[in-house]
Amino acid sequence: MQTTKISHLDTTQESLKEDAKMFLRQNNGSGQTGRMGKWSYSERLSDDDAVCGGILWDLFTALHRDYYVTRNQRDLVLQNINKLAHVFADTKTIIDFGVGGGEVITKQTVPLLKAFKNISQYVAVDINDAFLKTAQKIIGSNFDKKLKFLGINEDFEAMSPIAKHGKALGLFFGASTNFEEFPEGMLDLLKSFKRAIGKGGNLVMTIDTNTDPKSVIQSYNHPLHAEQIANLMHRITRDIAIEGDFDPYAWHYETDTKPMTYKGHDLLLTGHVLVAEKPMSFFIDGEHFTIKEGERLVVDQSYKISVDLMDVLCEMVGLTRVSRYDDSDNRMALLAYNIN
Ligand SMILES: C[S@@+](CC[C@H](N)C(=O)[O-])C[C@H]1O[C@@H](n2cnc3c(N)ncnc32)[C@H](O)[C@@H]1O
Repeated sequence: MQTTKISHLDTTQESLKEDAKMFLRQNNGSGQTGRMGKWSYSERLSDDDAVCGGILWDLFTALHRDYYVTRNQRDLVLQNINKLAHVFADTKTIIDFGVGGGEVITKQTVPLLKAFKNISQYVAVDINDAFLKTAQKIIGSNFDKKLKFLGINEDFEAMSPIAKHGKALGLFFGASTNFEEFPEGMLDLLKSFKRAIGKGGNLVMTIDTNTDPKSVIQSYNHPLHAEQIANLMHRITRDIAIEGDFDPYAWHYETDTKPMTYKGHDLLLTGHVLVAEKPMSFFIDGEHFTIKEGERLVVDQSYKISVDLMDVLCEMVGLTRVSRYDDSDNRMALLAYNIN
């Protein structure tokens, strides 16, 4: 397997600091919610590094029975791979936006890539470099050198065009629809994917259509997920110069849900929240931050939305749906779009 690696890590470190400052300003009303989710999948850099969000995420998806997003998605994808590979048989490049850890790569991505007989390039995009290294290793041991591996360590919200071999198909799996503003965040993300894939290509994604708060909360209610979100505070401590008494251990996780409507469609906003267990006072770049005990900071907001609403958003940026497959619980939907 030929391998190429593109890394824009310096830029992402700077944007971690800016996102973290916005996140920590939430309690005085001038900050932003929902911008930190991507930093919670972080890479562990040494044996004594407390940062391990990526590892926690991979374990959570393997071990939590009620996390239907990954489990239902996998069955849905595996059942329909051959149909997708038939419809998009002329695909030469597959671009995977947010590859995830070894669990999903082994059980879902490898079988999917094997079904696409004409592909010559797999482009793995992820903010967590460790996930890219795992992907490279697993793909390398399952495919011969005719498949080129391109790893891109950058933010998929701001993708540049990618050097492709022929027609490209993007994958956006895991229902990672996380933004502060809806629908603007989703529209910007779709535009970013469109730029990377190019006209005439396709985008295949899974969405979580379940708007029942009880089962959504149950799906996230697991110590590994709680630790993964709280681990963000270790990433902030490791990579940002903080002066004062910021304590990465003094936070616990809670899930919030809120029903919303957009253009007559119901959706469920799901907030991943960290609650401070003690007061803190600290400085970043000379700016003073204070946190009270019990203060709630929203790390990430994901949106559980219907297929009809996703179609409306896709039409707004020039994507037309060509296929739809639903799981037997009517929760996850697998959708394929043409890029006009
Ligand atoms: C919810 S997981 C989904 C993983 C996998 N696609 C699946 O179906 O299970 C989200 C993945 O996207 C990555 N990610 C999240 N936000 C990102 C961003 N803005 N840019 C690049 N990668 C991101 C995470 O590191 C993680 O691997």
